[in-house]
Amino acid sequence: MRVIHTIAELRQHLSGFDAPAFVPTMGNLHAGHLALVRQAKPLGDVTVASIFVNRLQFLPHEDFDTYPRTLQADCDQLAAHGCDVVFAPSEQELYPEPQGFKVHPPASLADMLEGHYRPGFFTGVSTVVMKLFQIVFGQCKTGGHAVFGKKDYQQLMVIRQMARQFALPVTIHGGEIIRADDGLALSSRNSYLTPDERAEAVHLSRALKALAAGVLGGEHNLAALEQHAMEALSRRGWQVDYLTVRRRDDLHPPAPSGFLPGKLVALGAARLGRTRLIDNWEF
Ligand code: PAF
Repeated sequence: MRVIHTIAELRQHLSGFDAPAFVPTMGNLHAGHLALVRQAKPLGDVTVASIFVNRLQFLPHEDFDTYPRTLQADCDQLAAHGCDVVFAPSEQELYPEPQGFKVHPPASLADMLEGHYRPGFFTGVSTVVMKLFQIVFGQCKTGGHAVFGKKDYQQLMVIRQMARQFALPVTIHGGEIIRADDGLALSSRNSYLTPDERAEAVHLSRALKALAAGVLGGEHNLAALEQHAMEALSRRGWQVDYLTVRRRDDLHPPAPSGFLPGKLVALGAARLGRTRLIDNWEF
């Protein structure tokens, strides 16, 4: 496996391939990321993972400085899972000057849910992903592939729309959420949890499953269901941003006639101590 730190070297190396399969990450990898790499491998003729903690997608009070940077351990795991190339640029390499040009996703998709609680987040994500795509797929001959985890459900939707609307030569794939035995969705931020918080953390996914069960059980008063779910989690000591049921295709609230099985997703974000977790449950 090659570990490459510069854009020039990556472009030079990838010029020998037709169709990269790409997994962008911020490192501190867990089994969820490695599943994305396994999914990516058969899609292209070279598998590339990037590791870059992207300052543009963090708010000033968020965890950019303390986000775990574990490059050597990440590279060991990627090599063991058959990744061919790791692109790990420095900040100076990716942003040698202030990034004045940015990709702004439409407000109808990016200003709700995560975008509401983390203003500018999807602009930061879209901008770095567009830049990484230019670097990885810039000389791609037959069109490449990129795989993003479904845990970041809204992010996956933003990237899909961006790739479609800019006619990027990339097919976007979603990777299923990988969960711990108790049901907690794997996330790099789980490492911030204390043992007590870790034991409690599963209740976010349980709250989402309960929301889904409520709808499937015939309760169509979504506002009441959501309110009940948020109060229940708050009583357990969580600070809840949202627990909500949305349409899978555009993340807007379903109309009463839209309560169709297979078309909905329950999404949630809540803070346990200083750790903010997100999760979702398609149903
Ligand atoms: O999901 C992530 O890890 C990041 O948002 C991504 C897509 C690598 C962009 O920095």
